[in-house]
Amino acid sequence: MKRVCVTGAGGYIASWVVKLLLSKGYMVHGTVRDPCDEKKNGHLKKLKNAEERLKLFKADLLEYEDLCVAFAGCTGVLHVASPVPGRHVPNPQVELLDPAIIGTQNVLNACLNAKVEKIVVVSSASAVLLNPQWPSDQEMDESCWTDIEYAKSLQQWYAVSKTIAEMQALENDKRDDLTVVTVCPAFVIGPMLQSTINTTSLLILSYMKDEGRTIRDTMENSERPYVDVRDLSEAILLLYENPKSKGRYICSQYSLRTKEFIAKMASFFPGYSYPKTFMEKSGRALLSSKKLLNLGWSYRPLEENIIDTIKNYEELGLLAKGKPFPSIITF
Ligand SMILES: NC(=O)c1ccc[n+]([C@@H]2O[C@H](COP(=O)([O-])OP(=O)(O)OC[C@H]3O[C@@H](n4cnc5c(N)ncnc54)[C@H](OP(=O)(O)O)[C@@H]3O)[C@@H](O)[C@H]2O)c1
Repeated sequence: MKRVCVTGAGGYIASWVVKLLLSKGYMVHGTVRDPCDEKKNGHLKKLKNAEERLKLFKADLLEYEDLCVAFAGCTGVLHVASPVPGRHVPNPQVELLDPAIIGTQNVLNACLNAKVEKIVVVSSASAVLLNPQWPSDQEMDESCWTDIEYAKSLQQWYAVSKTIAEMQALENDKRDDLTVVTVCPAFVIGPMLQSTINTTSLLILSYMKDEGRTIRDTMENSERPYVDVRDLSEAILLLYENPKSKGRYICSQYSLRTKEFIAKMASFFPGYSYPKTFMEKSGRALLSSKKLLNLGWSYRPLEENIIDTIKNYEELGLLAKGKPFPSIITF
């Protein structure tokens, strides 16, 4: 039976990847930092087929030996874990750069140690977008990389962490017999399987809920590329399974300004208190997913994504009146 390991299995995107793998008959190893943390990881054990085919391993990205144990016997690794902070990080080196960069190198070395054949590394559109040299009206493709020095000058430490980690991952392609493929997802939205709220879902919630925060007064009307978490999971599996996948792949569906996105939400679910004033922000975010589409990827309409996302928030009780906003975020 095919056996693969997913790093950071309890996270937002990884949970969907685990669910998809279990539905396709894979034996799944999942790394989590604390297998006993039911709040973070309990949902994984409830997934269909999890009892028979999901095994959780305790592993921090900075612990090479733990990763080796988790990858033993696996032919593939889907490296999803990496910190996604929702606010200013006081110590970017420790909180972001080390887990992303040293963590990815540890994952790659552990893959070599375990004789893994193929790894898909989840990078980010933020490893593509911050490139002031790229003509602003031209779609960005996989040849476009974030300018690391430019990102540092803006203190965009998340973008710095993902860009360096992705570059380093691709340098390991064909080291021994390992194939390395990377995927750069746009801003990921869609229903949550996990019971702790991830950073990007918090941002979408902030479009709809004003209790306990001040962000709505200054919400930026910026262009952002979006992708559905379920379509992204399909893309990750496609990149793993297709022997023709090679190099890096942008994974993006629609680029919209915040105002347009909120207008769509309000047209389906008019009852919520959406922001009315915006701070205009210039700049395009045009991403091309042609390479991934040519490999056979397809995606659902944005409308379906928005409806499923909001229904999910409603089912989880996150939009109930009087319930305070779940966390402070300062995007
Ligand atoms: N969401 C997006 O819009 C988006 C867009 C592009 C790319 N991505 C990438 O997608 C991946 C997953 O993001 P997500 O949105 O699913 O966020 P998430 O829910 O916060 O997942 C992040 C995962 O990384 C794990 N992690 C962080 N530091 C770790 C460490 N030192 N050792 C082991 N595990 C560690 C977390 O584990 P704990 O639960 O223990 O903290 C968590 O499982 C990341 O690589 C991110 O850069 C996300």
